[in-house]
Amino acid sequence: MLKDGFSRTIDYMRISVTDRCNLRCIYCMPHDIKPVEFKNILTYEEIIRIVRVSVKLGVRKIRLTGGEPLARKNIQYLVKRLKEIEGIEELSMTTNGILLKRYAHELKEAGLDRLNISIDSLDKDKYREITRGGSLERVLQGMELAHSLGISPIKVNTVIIRGVNDSEIEGFAGFTLENPYHVRFIEFMPGKGNHWSKEDVVGIEEIKDRIQERFGVLEPVKRKKTGPSEDFRIKGAQGIVGFIGAVTHGFCKSCNRLRLTADGMLRPCLFSKSMIDLRSPLRNGATDEDIERLLQCAVDIKPQGHTIGVDDDRGSIDLPMSKIGG
Ligand code: 5AD
Ligand code: SF4
Repeated sequence: MLKDGFSRTIDYMRISVTDRCNLRCIYCMPHDIKPVEFKNILTYEEIIRIVRVSVKLGVRKIRLTGGEPLARKNIQYLVKRLKEIEGIEELSMTTNGILLKRYAHELKEAGLDRLNISIDSLDKDKYREITRGGSLERVLQGMELAHSLGISPIKVNTVIIRGVNDSEIEGFAGFTLENPYHVRFIEFMPGKGNHWSKEDVVGIEEIKDRIQERFGVLEPVKRKKTGPSEDFRIKGAQGIVGFIGAVTHGFCKSCNRLRLTADGMLRPCLFSKSMIDLRSPLRNGATDEDIERLLQCAVDIKPQGHTIGVDDDRGSIDLPMSKIGG
């Protein structure tokens, strides 16, 4: 069992399979970003080995992220192989959905359990602007297809930025009336090159107030808490609205995750400055026991919490989000 210094059990690993992306969202990817060299990206066999060892230590949930995971060739192969590992209870993916129409069938067949899809505007022009070129239409079609194939529940991740898309808060909430999706509002976090300032953050309390003003009192949805989202339902709605107070609400107390970057660094927290290199040991003959020790090391240096929102300079994320896996 992986336990950290603050009595948190770590059973969830988020794996960035590539830092490359077919979009350039303004809050995530600087447009002139230089990707990691291919030779430094973990191979699928290396990822599978790390997961196998992690499962021995109690990891039960895996999420594949990026960059854009569907932009990595043959990702369905990795999904299938990870799903075969005994002890994995849930395998999910966070995607921008652009390639979903093409891959939904194969992902379902490979055993993918859940999908999170990033959509920051329901207006096609605004969507194109925020993503620097993406097609909302394609994403929505991919999402419908995945839903019809039974990948459920599908969660829509929406990062709200003041002056960019905060006018769409009610629109996104209203989207859950007729659609069975979870829409999760995420506070804008500082990342390298994304020009974050405290004033741009729309806190979840404000978002919630605005939704309640329009749609009436939100009903809390009781379910096993599996992540940082607080979930509610608009009366009579098919879908759910969730709130992720990444900046204003410290959910660090119940954090259960470790991150693995595309180039093989274990990152104990989104905001950690220290990482543990797994790639070099893996490529230099490390035994499974060595990998176990390194995993435990990463957990041992997991910080108690972050300080963003407390102070503008401290605690900012030192890499673009695409390099860590959002
Ligand atoms: N703040 C909040 N969420 C972010 N993501 C990427 N960058 C940020 C940021 N600066 C989210 C994306 C996506 C996931 C990969 O991470 O919206 O849902
Ligand atoms: Fe790509 Fe997702 Fe970052 Fe947008 S948020 S640039 S889709 S990795």
